[in-house]
Amino acid sequence: MQRIVVTRRLPGDAHERIRGSADVRVWPDDRPIPRDVLEQQVADADGLLCMLTDRIDAPLLERAPSLQVVSTMAVGTDNIDVDACTERGIRVGNTPDVLNGATADMAIALLLAAARRIPEGMTYVREGRWRRWEPELLLGAEVHGSTLGIVGMGRIGTEIARRGLGFGMRVLYHNRHRRPEIEAQLGTLYRSLDELLAESDHVVLSCPLTEETYHLIDAQALDRMQPTATLINIARGPIVDPRALEHALRTGQIFAAALDVTEPEPIPADDPLLALPNCLIVPHLGSATVQTRKAMADLAVDNLLAGLRGEPMPACVNCHLIGR
Ligand code: DGY
Repeated sequence: MQRIVVTRRLPGDAHERIRGSADVRVWPDDRPIPRDVLEQQVADADGLLCMLTDRIDAPLLERAPSLQVVSTMAVGTDNIDVDACTERGIRVGNTPDVLNGATADMAIALLLAAARRIPEGMTYVREGRWRRWEPELLLGAEVHGSTLGIVGMGRIGTEIARRGLGFGMRVLYHNRHRRPEIEAQLGTLYRSLDELLAESDHVVLSCPLTEETYHLIDAQALDRMQPTATLINIARGPIVDPRALEHALRTGQIFAAALDVTEPEPIPADDPLLALPNCLIVPHLGSATVQTRKAMADLAVDNLLAGLRGEPMPACVNCHLIGR
């Protein structure tokens, strides 16, 4: 019987589906599986179903001589050394598409909340400071009709663009490769990163974390943005330099920021960003709806089982390189 390691309890009936076909070990805790436990568990595993919180690197793979499939319950694979997997013939599955809508919804929710100062308003009411209506109380930045800049026009970026158009926004984008088909379909306008930062009222980051995008938004990038602009990160924390962001928010270099992801993650409770009223932070909730998390778990299981049967995986990032 094949052996499978699952690093967290999964939503829906995912466990029942896996259990029928293999000897399964599930990490039962509600914190990530410790590294030493994971190292022990993969020693005889054929399949690994992991989370974005697990680091799947070459030293771990060294300890997993029978591993054939790594299936992550995420679209992002920056926690996995995909090259090292490919070298060992290990197929890597992920969960694209099923989370596009939920993650794009979250980007817009954060944009509206930051631009319209919703958390600040809530704090104001909670603290009993709401005495009367005031003409200049907590004035925010306009969203409808403004210019939205999207960095990373992949599947999630495209969904964000659609939502922005629904708000009557002018949508700019920057991407590694220009996307003429999206431009033709949606009327989005390509810009260099510098142009996008300078022209946008709201900048949303939806690009993968790679060596090129690490601290892409640094002090210089923030300096290019307008003092009235908001920055939304729904991608990966390390795309933004947190200390540069703190400085930009403190000094009014930009108006506000909303982060679904942080560096480090989780962000420590005493991080100075958390003390800033114009910085909204939520704990990596982009795909966190009942329906989407179930769909992600289902797809991760589909990938794992298909991979272990030697069948085509529904979503695989390196199968074309392995030739299977
Ligand atoms: C992903 O799938 O990479 C997301 O960050 C999870 O919300």
